[in-house]
Amino acid sequence: MESLKNKNILLGVTGGIAAYKSAEIVRGLKKVGSNVRVVMTKSSKEFITPLTMQTLSGNKVFTDFIDEESEAAMGHIELAKWADVVLIAPCTADTISRLVIGRGNDLLAAIVLAFEGPLTIAPAMNQAMWRDQSTQENIKKLIKKGFLISGPSSGDQACGDNGPGRMEEPKKIIKTLSKHFTAGRLKDKTVLITAGPTIEPIDPVRFISNRSSGKMGYALVEAAVEEGAEVILISGPVNLNRPNKAYFYNIKTAQDMYEKVMHHIKGSDVYIGAAAVSDFSPSSIKSRKIKKNSKGSSINLKMKENKDILLEVSRLKKKPFLVGFAAETENLLLNAKEKLLKKNLDLIIGNDISKSDIGFDSEFNEVMLITREEEIFIPRCDKRKLARKIINYISNQL
Ligand code: PMT
Repeated sequence: MESLKNKNILLGVTGGIAAYKSAEIVRGLKKVGSNVRVVMTKSSKEFITPLTMQTLSGNKVFTDFIDEESEAAMGHIELAKWADVVLIAPCTADTISRLVIGRGNDLLAAIVLAFEGPLTIAPAMNQAMWRDQSTQENIKKLIKKGFLISGPSSGDQACGDNGPGRMEEPKKIIKTLSKHFTAGRLKDKTVLITAGPTIEPIDPVRFISNRSSGKMGYALVEAAVEEGAEVILISGPVNLNRPNKAYFYNIKTAQDMYEKVMHHIKGSDVYIGAAAVSDFSPSSIKSRKIKKNSKGSSINLKMKENKDILLEVSRLKKKPFLVGFAAETENLLLNAKEKLLKKNLDLIIGNDISKSDIGFDSEFNEVMLITREEEIFIPRCDKRKLARKIINYISNQL
């Protein structure tokens, strides 16, 4: 269950006798290293106390939509943004029907409405209710929407009936949940990713570079590995740990990066250029340190244009699915679209690098996914979460 480690899991508990088993789900998730926050509906509190869930999860439990204290600490939008995945267990027939029509009439429903990631439910109800045509149709609709459904299992029920409708065992629910991160939709694909800055030497001690930390590219590597891809990372100098499940190549200059990319591009199904490649480099590198001659002296640095790696890849006869980033300080959409067309990309991810709390060297980013057909805004979130959304989008396109 390695794939659930460090994931933010929002567990919704709705009102059914199986609610007592959700305590075991929290314990199981904590055991595999997940961060868990629990949201309980009003009726679920009749079956298990928020204090139990708080103690087990180590986090405040959210119960009320109109709770000023909760909303001030972490409102429904913040909770939706925090979660990597939402699990509702047990999930009643009523909750299922509300999910189908997109109601937002309690805290949990509002979170699901605002949530843009993967969802799993573990239905639990009386066997006749489960068999009912409306429930079955609703389940089909949720599957179509991308929900994973865990269970229900069959057997003796608390009401005395026997049949399907019992909530699935916690271990199995956790296993289903982990499928969101080990779906392996890129299983037979090779993804080549560039990350970090390039550095262009001026003389033996000086160079020109930029503020890229590599965090965005490395997060993409992690997400692509999670999705089952074979990943090749070509990275400029950064202060990040080398990912252990990807082929790794360290480079310094834009020319080095170009050569490594061209060497590995054959056989790659996807190319993602997240690196901040230097557009220019000094025309000649001085073999000795440039000396300061006299007070107030100045030097002129002659620069030559570097190869545009993305453009070169786009010119290949058999080009992979091509993804670029556009780092813009103004006219984000317009400039990014221009790059999409000029470099013949399948997708460009525009980020506004004029904002200090996102983009370069930040844990966060806010981007626009742009293709020839659509533009999707992804609001500010941490780069690992964003990377999963980007890889998810690419997987769907492939
Ligand atoms: O590394 P972080 O600190 O996490 O920051 C992430 C980031 C801001 C660096 C990243 O999100 C990002 O925007 N990367 C691309 C930066 C960039 O070089 O943008 P650009 O608009 O100048 O280039 C457009 C695209 O062409 C990019 O995909 C770039 O990799 C590629 N390019 C650019 C120049 C060049 N010579 N060859 C290229 O392939």
